[in-house]
Amino acid sequence: MELRHLRYFVAVVEEQSFTKAAEKLFIAQPPLSRQIQNLEQELGIQLFERGSRPLKTTEAGQFFYLHALKLLSNAEEIKSMTKRIGMTERTVTIGFVSSLLFGLLSNIVYLFKQQHPHLKIEMEEMATTEQIQALKEGRIDVGFGRLRISDPAVKRVLLREERLVAAVHASHPLAQKTEGVYLADLIDQQLFLYPNVNKPNFSTQVRGIFSEYGLEPKKIREVRELQLALGFVAASEGICITPMSAQSIRLTHLTYLPILDESAISPIFMAVRNMDESEDIRALFDSVYQVYDLEAIPYDRSVF
Ligand code: BEZ
Repeated sequence: MELRHLRYFVAVVEEQSFTKAAEKLFIAQPPLSRQIQNLEQELGIQLFERGSRPLKTTEAGQFFYLHALKLLSNAEEIKSMTKRIGMTERTVTIGFVSSLLFGLLSNIVYLFKQQHPHLKIEMEEMATTEQIQALKEGRIDVGFGRLRISDPAVKRVLLREERLVAAVHASHPLAQKTEGVYLADLIDQQLFLYPNVNKPNFSTQVRGIFSEYGLEPKKIREVRELQLALGFVAASEGICITPMSAQSIRLTHLTYLPILDESAISPIFMAVRNMDESEDIRALFDSVYQVYDLEAIPYDRSVF
């Protein structure tokens, strides 16, 4: 059995059709069917229910599918790790969600570059969900995101939990509450959340926090990105909920209020490939924690 057989089998399961799988794999259907037959012969079992339309796996086929997926993902990981180790000029490619740039990401990357001038650093903005795929395909080496997304090929470390704030226009009655507001104070307001693509995302996370308290905001408008949401607030169109680090974005008449509910937090995760034990990754972790020390941010370093 070769990896190619696993790829063929996975494509047939996912497309639920030999014809569609053959198109996806850019091969003709008869050789594809033959390869799957050979696989069934080698294993001495049926992988698909005979005559099922759309095509369904047998119980053994389903078991084989799940393990084939794992093997293929491992193979991809081995390929990208080997390439990475063999590179003469080492590159660390960092995927990140854009809101992190307004927080400590820029400080972390600056420090990392200063301490490791021989490394080439590349940065790519992408959603947390995209980061997982990009890590597995070797397009990035590290992902900084805000969502709890699990994948067997990826190690995710919680760096810290950032408090949320409400951005309001200075003329808004809530702006007087400088000590802070509760989520319940916000449900009748026009809320701007972001982004409006790649769900689950930060907007999903904020909605989830409201539901945790049994609250449902009445007027939500999702916009493309943080800056746009804050622009609407500065135009006195409504209120935006952001992580505290967005407070570095200053616009006229824009003011930020702490959100006092305990669960009003957004976690920050660093994700790396499971197999990646390289010194560059360890060094990047060191830079994160050095910046936390400078900013007096508490952290738990037991994981990495
Ligand atoms: C932070 O704000 O804690 C952070 C931002 C980007 C990467 C790592 C940490």
